[in-house]
Amino acid sequence: MAIVISGKEVSAKVRADVKKECDELKAKGIAPGLAVIIVGDDPASRVYVNNKKKACADVGFVSEEYALPAETTQEELMALIDKLNSRPEINGILCQLPLPKHLDEKAVINAISPIKDVDAFHPSNVGRIMIGDYHFLPCTPAGVMELIHYAGIDVSGKSCVVIGRSNIVGKPMAMLLMHENGTVTVCHTKTKNTAELCRSADIIIASVGRPKFLTADMVKEGAVVIDVGINRDENGKLCGDVDYEPVAAKASYITPVPGGVGPMTIAMLMKNTLMAAKIQNGLA
Ligand code: GUN
Repeated sequence: MAIVISGKEVSAKVRADVKKECDELKAKGIAPGLAVIIVGDDPASRVYVNNKKKACADVGFVSEEYALPAETTQEELMALIDKLNSRPEINGILCQLPLPKHLDEKAVINAISPIKDVDAFHPSNVGRIMIGDYHFLPCTPAGVMELIHYAGIDVSGKSCVVIGRSNIVGKPMAMLLMHENGTVTVCHTKTKNTAELCRSADIIIASVGRPKFLTADMVKEGAVVIDVGINRDENGKLCGDVDYEPVAAKASYITPVPGGVGPMTIAMLMKNTLMAAKIQNGLA
């Protein structure tokens, strides 16, 4: 039976460390600030944004929410980002994705100043991650690595399979595993032998976006299984990309949903915002 890596526990530790450093910055007269932009009324995005604001309050950051109507124009959104880029008391800017269809997501990501880009989505930050010279890591992959480290799992020389190739999770995840000398395979919708590749993996990161995609027959005895998915099953219950019970019976380590990668994403956002405040105040 697998050891369960608790994202609740690890994220609480990360947030406590951030809070301590935030208190130290405040003693120097610096109050880290995060601006969160949400456009439209996607219910999942609303939940994520509320959680991000609450996390800011918990660690002692100032947060500003910009809840814009779905009909917001590209020009209005760009003008807001420009204004936030120029305000020194705002250290981090996050625009919750996805945006309504008529808005150009790429242009929005490009408009956020790279030193305030706490999501690490800007091409300049993505490039820096590629060459291993970065200030910010994208929150979800960074959270996964934190869980792996906390559990004492050594990635070096291991065969790693990442399922999913998104810009937000799959691609940077592969990069971070490679930085730690993992041998990485990325599976996606066009991959012909995903099950077979997974069966040979020591570490599987499931970021597919399909409920219970990773079944026990796809997992080798003793593998490490990290579940990035947040889905609803046929009964509307929250579930991950992993068929949890049967996979947990075979794996050596597993992360639950909820309480696994999810809380880590937000904790890493706090870490990035703290880093942004330090950089912008000449302390990092
Ligand atoms: N939508 C889904 N995940 C994320 C994330 O990490 N950051 C932002 N800005 N939007 C998202």
